[in-house]
Amino acid sequence: MDFSVFVTRHLTPQAEEKLNAFCQVAYWPEQTPPPYQVLVEKTKAVDGLICLLTDPVDAGVIGQAERLKVISQVAVGVDNIDLVAAAARGIPVGHTPDLLTDTTADLTFALILAAARRMGEAIDYARSGRWQTWGLTTLLGESVHGATLGIIGMGRIGQAVARRAQGFNMPLLYVNTSPLPTMDRELGMARVNLEALLDQADIVSLHVPLDYLTRGLIGSAQLARMKPDSILVNTARGAVVDTDALVSALKTGQIGYAALDVTDPEPLPPSHELYQLPNVLILPHIGSATRTAREQMSLLAVDNLIAGLLGNPLPKSVQLPNGIAS
Ligand code: DGY
Repeated sequence: MDFSVFVTRHLTPQAEEKLNAFCQVAYWPEQTPPPYQVLVEKTKAVDGLICLLTDPVDAGVIGQAERLKVISQVAVGVDNIDLVAAAARGIPVGHTPDLLTDTTADLTFALILAAARRMGEAIDYARSGRWQTWGLTTLLGESVHGATLGIIGMGRIGQAVARRAQGFNMPLLYVNTSPLPTMDRELGMARVNLEALLDQADIVSLHVPLDYLTRGLIGSAQLARMKPDSILVNTARGAVVDTDALVSALKTGQIGYAALDVTDPEPLPPSHELYQLPNVLILPHIGSATRTAREQMSLLAVDNLIAGLLGNPLPKSVQLPNGIAS
């Protein structure tokens, strides 16, 4: 085949083998994303693009890519891609849902446990030689079992987190655009509005995609409603939370703790004030970072790309704004 493709980072070896056998491929060789102008120039010259969530595939990139037949993202979230621009050009966009659902839900639960039981501080305490004896009131945290979990966004990952919470006997509240009566009955969960969830939950976990409706969804007014000992967990996208408002809520004790796999900005610069706060745990966006999930995501991204090049329906496509299932 005569197709040419730009890939903004190296994929897993198995995925690269499959891709290389099908078309001419140029890989961006660095660990960091290609500079914007490089992304524009490279995408201009190819039939297909495989990108990551760090690549701004905006109207500038898409508008100049006259040959482009398909965009294939190695992630489920596609907030870095201008879907309106892709729809206008009739370019299908692929992504990698399902394969990372349980992996991300596992990490969400790790964050819930680590925040509630102050694991980051405890690890530092032991390492730094401050562990002198068993202390009756040392490093006291909050219970996870029996705590009310509030899930904002009950899609695939939110549901997988809810199922895990069953094992911890956690009452479940959720916010979602549509009701889920079967799951409500099965897990005994209740759909409420955002205000009620923030008022009542001990732990609030975010699982919404980032879009114009969810950007800044959790700001100072929302943080002010949360309980003083409550924990905010974000494994969705950093910009769903207003970072300045979060810093202030953590400093003033408006909420108890934040456990973040995603931040705004990302990466969070080492000098950022969030790192100075004792009641924050920050991971570098590793929700789907297991060998299995990343291998499967890479392979699916290649399958989406090949389908798009051949003009076939993508195995996993994003719904484009004009209603076209790409
Ligand atoms: C995604 O897929 O959107 C995650 O943030 C990275 O796996």
